[in-house]
Amino acid sequence: MSPASNAPNGLRWDISRLLKYAPADLIGREAETQLLDAAWAKAQGGEPNRPRVLTFVALGGEGKTSLVAHWAATLAAQDWPGCAAAFAWSFYSQGTRDQSAASSDIFLKEALTFFDDDADKAFAASNVGAFEKGQRLARVVGERKNLLILDGLEPLQYAPTSPTPGELRDQGIAALLKGLAQHNRGLCLVTTRRTLPDLNAFRQTTAPEVVLHRLSRAAGVCLLKTLGVRGTAQEFERLVEDVKGHALTLTLLGGFLHRARLFHAATPYPWTSPQADLAAARKLIEQCGYGRRKEELEDAEAAIPFGSPGDFALY
Ligand SMILES: Nc1ncnc2c1ncn2[C@@H]1O[C@H](COP(=O)(O)OP(=O)(O)O)[C@@H](O)[C@H]1O
Ligand SMILES: [Mg+2]
Repeated sequence: MSPASNAPNGLRWDISRLLKYAPADLIGREAETQLLDAAWAKAQGGEPNRPRVLTFVALGGEGKTSLVAHWAATLAAQDWPGCAAAFAWSFYSQGTRDQSAASSDIFLKEALTFFDDDADKAFAASNVGAFEKGQRLARVVGERKNLLILDGLEPLQYAPTSPTPGELRDQGIAALLKGLAQHNRGLCLVTTRRTLPDLNAFRQTTAPEVVLHRLSRAAGVCLLKTLGVRGTAQEFERLVEDVKGHALTLTLLGGFLHRARLFHAATPYPWTSPQADLAAARKLIEQCGYGRRKEELEDAEAAIPFGSPGDFALY
């Protein structure tokens, strides 16, 4: 079900496809958040030579989706300041592992239907080619202070091994992004694993590309702590550096270590009782607002009275 709605002020939004990936608390990423805030503020101020299509590029699991999803959720919490309408789409979740058949068809139809004030649903649903639909969507989106987020665009780009690596396979998205780079009163955010050569002509002006780097050591340590992992400062730092601050690896490892400790620990490390440690984990999770881990925590809380002690080490 879509939460798109018509608020009394005419504002519409539908970012549900992205929101489900937003971490309750975004750890680190201060510079990138500032960049997003600044890009949005410039759009509101109508500044020339500002980002119209802002792309974050990074490896899978580095935290692209988390960043834009959390930023969008923050705007939503503020009732979308300066925004006419907001729409988000995730191409990554479009299919299974084999994404070779991924296309923009459904996205173009849904987005046109969402944005088009003339309610030209017939055009959206018609057999008109993706290129025309992409062009039209660019016009409709670009004429107001809209926010459009395209998450996980890589299935629509040529593979790194192809003769034209990274180029958009999809003419609809190519027309949309090129159109928005040329005219957009609002902001379009893109996340992808691959650089977007289609926007090269605008790279230095309206379509900058930002490489999203690893989490900082401090942010990585904080992430582990929110996952309930316990250890010394040196151990945390070593683990973060071992995985080069890769957010997804830290998340998985952190969850694993947390569970390992919960179910097998007996030796003080620093350890008083499972219940006490669990209470500490809950406090950390609540403090850092990493809500998705709460379910795991509750499972552990339910299980711990019956857990049998064993040895525990961070590794
Ligand atoms: N800054 C962050 N704060 C908290 N959790 C994060 C952060 N960055 C990434 N994560 C977690 O790491 C995992 C991978 O992040 P994700 O945003 O999906 O990466 P990407 O979109 O680059 O593939 C997710 O489980 C996410 O919750
Ligand atoms: Mg992603």
